[in-house]
Amino acid sequence: MSNFFGSSIGKKFLMSITGLFLVTFLLVHLSLNALLLVPDGGELFNAAAHFMATNPLIKLMEPVLGLGFLVHIIYASILTLQNQKARGNDRYASGNNTKNVAWASKNMYVLGAVILAFLVVHIANFWVKMKITGDSLLGHTHITVAGVETQVENAYALVNGTFGMLWVVIVYAIGSLGLAYHLTHGFWSAFQTFGLSNSIWRKRWTVIGTVFAWFVGIGFTLIAVLQYLFFQG
Ligand code: HEM
Repeated sequence: MSNFFGSSIGKKFLMSITGLFLVTFLLVHLSLNALLLVPDGGELFNAAAHFMATNPLIKLMEPVLGLGFLVHIIYASILTLQNQKARGNDRYASGNNTKNVAWASKNMYVLGAVILAFLVVHIANFWVKMKITGDSLLGHTHITVAGVETQVENAYALVNGTFGMLWVVIVYAIGSLGLAYHLTHGFWSAFQTFGLSNSIWRKRWTVIGTVFAWFVGIGFTLIAVLQYLFFQG
């Protein structure tokens, strides 16, 4: 088994399985964040954030998610270094200048680094403030859950206040669109690694992956832009 994960295909397998796990997280994350566009003063979003912060199963998933990111990043670094070494002086001839290879597939590591840089800003914006340091924007508010009034953290006020700054919206647009490019290659590539791809399915996975990638990337971008334009004050 350790031989398998030490082999090139084993490392790719780990990248693919963690990549698809992160894709599942993105879908849940995007769905919950879409509640930021409900014009109810943030009540639904706060209810969802409260559920996510208190549900034991979700709490259990948080370290698993962190581990997923870590494995994905570590194996991406190992594989990229190995590929560069293997190509040696031919790196530029067989890599960046090769025709007919999509731009995203040649730049997965660079795109990953852009997403990681975005994530550092993003975690500092929200997760650190909600879980560790607190923030002046994060007061308490009341929501009604199943007829019972409950006091919860005002996560909506924090997100809304953060998206009141144009530079933040621009950083989110860059991070989300970088994510979209990353997924246009990563999605079909994962199914290829699992051996679930032939000439017909390769085309299908590419179309499904491209639609999914832009749906997610444009979705996150739109939330930030619409919050900035229509939900301030
Ligand atoms: C409109 C865009 C986004 C909004 C409003 C948003 C909102 C949030 C909030 C409020 C949290 C803190 C949740 C908590 O601690 O309970 C969070 C955490 C997180 N976000 Fe985002 N997010 C956005 C985009 C993204 C994107 C594009 C990614 C991935 C590339 C991402 C990945 C994460 C991760 C990994 C965490 C930490 C895990 C967690 O607490 O669930 N987010 N986000």
